[in-house]
Amino acid sequence: MAEVDTSRGVSAPGRARISARTLREDRWWLQPLVTFVCFSAWLLYGLVRTATQRNYYVEDYGYLTPFASPCVSTSCVPGSSHFGTPFGDFPPLVPLAILTLPFLLLFRLTCYYYRKAYYRSFWLSPPACAVAEPHASYSGETRFPLIVQNVHRYFFYAAVVVSLINTYDFLQAFHGRDGGFGIGLGTLIIGANVVLLWCYTLGCHSCRNIVGGRLNHFSRHPVRYRMWGWVSRLNERHMQFAWVTLGSLVATDAYIALVSAGVISDLRFVN
Ligand code: FES
Repeated sequence: MAEVDTSRGVSAPGRARISARTLREDRWWLQPLVTFVCFSAWLLYGLVRTATQRNYYVEDYGYLTPFASPCVSTSCVPGSSHFGTPFGDFPPLVPLAILTLPFLLLFRLTCYYYRKAYYRSFWLSPPACAVAEPHASYSGETRFPLIVQNVHRYFFYAAVVVSLINTYDFLQAFHGRDGGFGIGLGTLIIGANVVLLWCYTLGCHSCRNIVGGRLNHFSRHPVRYRMWGWVSRLNERHMQFAWVTLGSLVATDAYIALVSAGVISDLRFVN
């Protein structure tokens, strides 16, 4: 059995000896509970949608759900493979967007905001400010496996590529019934989702460091300083974009699924 390191964590020397787990009397448990329920529900939805491989494309209007983009298998329905089909048929349960989904998942999993959220809500480490965690020791992100969180910057690069792919999918959604130009409610929903995804991606802490970090004098780098200012404004709202994009991804996917299944008709503005 691994030895418990009592030099760190809540029982470390120098920490106040308080027998109660917390002295807080407010509902400190509510936020981690809501986070736990929402993340679990989102993961379940994403898992079901990517594994079932149904109703992910609306051929008439070129709508492709981000959960199946890019569709890279010969199993993909005609028209949905915007970047070709380098792979053969996928067996059941294998996601059609196998090339990008692992990177997107790891991008979010290693995101500084999500780390805080799931460390609190799933691992209770700690569940809230001024509430002792149940674990006897604490090593932070200094050891395996959590030290791997430090590769977040590389998943950011991958996420930029995926956002470009999503942007291309959005351009493909300007497709009308007769094969020409068209705009529908689905086009607007896909577009809004892409804008929000860019706001989340470019507001990344790693992006902020890439754009404006390691400079001694902003005055000598006016372009980077300007860009750093834009990224910083997105970064201030990173938590909000993290949540909103979870919702916009589900809303976009659900809308496309409903139109594709014939449950609802797309509201058309042009063609
Ligand atoms: Fe959240 Fe990079 S810190 S995406």
